[in-house]
Amino acid sequence: MLLGILREKSFGETRVALLPDNLKTLLAQGITVSIESGAGISAAASDADYIAAGATITADRSDLLTTSDVIPVVNAPSAADQALLKSGAVIIGFLKPLEAPADLVTAIALHVTLFSMELVPRISRAQSMDALSSMATVAGYKAVIDAAGSLPRLFPMLMTAAGTIPPARVFVIGAGVAGLQAIATARRLGAVVEAYDVRAAAGEQVRSLGAKFLDVDLGGISAEGGGGYAAELSEEALDRGRDLITRTAAHSDVIITTAQVPGRPAPRLIRRAAIEAMRPGSVLVDLAAPAGGNCELTRPGVTQTLNGVTLMAPMNLPAEVPVHASQLYARNILNFLTLILKKGELNIDLADEVLAGACVAHQGSPVNPRVAKLLESAHAIG
Ligand code: NAI
Repeated sequence: MLLGILREKSFGETRVALLPDNLKTLLAQGITVSIESGAGISAAASDADYIAAGATITADRSDLLTTSDVIPVVNAPSAADQALLKSGAVIIGFLKPLEAPADLVTAIALHVTLFSMELVPRISRAQSMDALSSMATVAGYKAVIDAAGSLPRLFPMLMTAAGTIPPARVFVIGAGVAGLQAIATARRLGAVVEAYDVRAAAGEQVRSLGAKFLDVDLGGISAEGGGGYAAELSEEALDRGRDLITRTAAHSDVIITTAQVPGRPAPRLIRRAAIEAMRPGSVLVDLAAPAGGNCELTRPGVTQTLNGVTLMAPMNLPAEVPVHASQLYARNILNFLTLILKKGELNIDLADEVLAGACVAHQGSPVNPRVAKLLESAHAIG
């Protein structure tokens, strides 16, 4: 059996799906691992490192696509790449099956089995495969580092002979995976941190990191959506949060915003008034940019300066930390592979709830009902 690793082609992508350190258990099963030349270079893994770990290197991408049985990826291969895949091959990665299902139809039609890392269920058994959380952790850290780099002030309190400098005030909106890492990073840099989340359960985690939890009375509505996710709120409930955010923005030097409800556009929580209330030189990093953004002025992928406030809307922060983002992602991929590889052979059991949850398509048909519905309504496959 051949496992192929491609050089990622998406714009700005620097991560790689497996690193040399991950190959041992695969090779021990008798699996041949072939790497497209240069695949790991941005993540500090050279062709020579992969060879030393027991892989072969090829410069022939087309041949790798045509002959591989399993291809773990970061992003979905292009339609032209998919057209080269063999029937029965398996692709695993961030395939965006709910945002861009039509981009997968070539592979589906060729009876390629597609597993999406975004759809891995958030259950205890699948925690070690939760690549969304791994990447959110990296993004939460990097958002604070980028904000600190842009802020014309220092983060920590400093007492010097030339006077005392007060600590920066950081406000984190959404205390899930990315938000908690943002809080921890800002605290480590010495900032005073406040955080807001609609889930009351987040309060304890926020306080345990040394930050202040801001509570909003939602009028008795439960915001718990299960699995650590929030439920979608009414406009009235959202408004209570918006008012708190505008008030808190006025004394914040940095806002990091991470609020999301899975499968929905990012809740619009930050009004123009909140940006106008911030002091010139303040920084807002809208991590929800890929889902449209938490701020009504966000332009995904664009950094703007509005009344002297820097508004960043990064689309792929993990790609800016490729070594550790790849290391975490590759671990998630490797753990996922143990579910579909038995003694060096493919063994896909869709009765397994993790595999069933993550499977986009198998043997020519969509497996995930939401993807099937989206494809049907788009008449994308005929
Ligand atoms: P998560 O689901 O763990 O956390 C989101 C938090 O937002 C939850 O705690 C939830 O209760 C809270 N929330 C939902 N609605 C809210 C509201 N109305 N007010 C206040 N809080 C609310 O999600 P995770 O994994 O932390 O990801 C957060 C965001 O970061 C996602 O939008 C994700 O796509 C994005 N992300 C962005 C990256 C980038 O490079 N821009 C990279 C990785 C993740």
